[in-house]
Amino acid sequence: MNTEQLMGIALDLAGLREVPGDSAIYQEGNGIRRVLIGIDARSAELTLAKMLGYDAVIAHHPIGGSATLNFHTVLGRHVDQMTTAGVPEELARSILAEVAESRRVLYSMSNYDHDPSVARLLKMPYLNIHTPLDEVGRRRMAAVADEVGAEATVGDLIAAFYDTFAEFRHAATRIEALVGAADRRVGRIVVSHGAGTNGGYPVAKAYFDHGVDTLVYIHCRPDDARRLEREAGAAKTLVVTGHIASDSIGINPYVARLRDEGLDVTPLSGILSP
Ligand SMILES: [Fe+2]
Ligand SMILES: [Fe+2]
Repeated sequence: MNTEQLMGIALDLAGLREVPGDSAIYQEGNGIRRVLIGIDARSAELTLAKMLGYDAVIAHHPIGGSATLNFHTVLGRHVDQMTTAGVPEELARSILAEVAESRRVLYSMSNYDHDPSVARLLKMPYLNIHTPLDEVGRRRMAAVADEVGAEATVGDLIAAFYDTFAEFRHAATRIEALVGAADRRVGRIVVSHGAGTNGGYPVAKAYFDHGVDTLVYIHCRPDDARRLEREAGAAKTLVVTGHIASDSIGINPYVARLRDEGLDVTPLSGILSP
């Protein structure tokens, strides 16, 4: 297998036709049989892979190169998710334009070639797959939310997440209602994920202002959660499922696919067993 095929399988799982801006092949390679995959995989893991005889390293989070410099382009996926949920397109676009510009400037400050340069020196095939696997995770969690339905409580939803996904049961973090409370009715729900990163306060507020009762994020900054609690917490609920567990839910179907293809895959760096 080659690096392009490794990327292609993920695109296929997510139903995407193009490599999104936050995913990239840093060092191409072929004849790949043994793969090291991590939520984060950088220079240390590249060196480890070389020492232990792996043929390729796959990271989930963007590492550098175009995946860092073009990361902001995938934030536009929030606009699709928001308009589908009933947020006016003009409002969604204006919120995301600001969020994306901040990310663009922030990430342009980074040393985008540090880890890719190590992969080149080691001649270690190296890629990261971010949005495709988060999209897989989003769909899986959204399917559970659909099944639970609007009349259930947020507590029922959280219980269904634990029942369905061993990753949540294996996690050292817990699923929590950071805004609102678990005894509320779920009502209209959106799982907001698979769009680069969470949209923070402004995206959540727009959902709440336009009829969404329960919003699911995989993580949320405390300042954003506190502000949402003050402004919307009396009626709305934000469920945070946990970063590493939720990333694992998107990554594990991909690991299973690679194994089906005959590859020897070692997960590390946070990937929880399914
Ligand atoms: Fe992720
Ligand atoms: Fe992540």
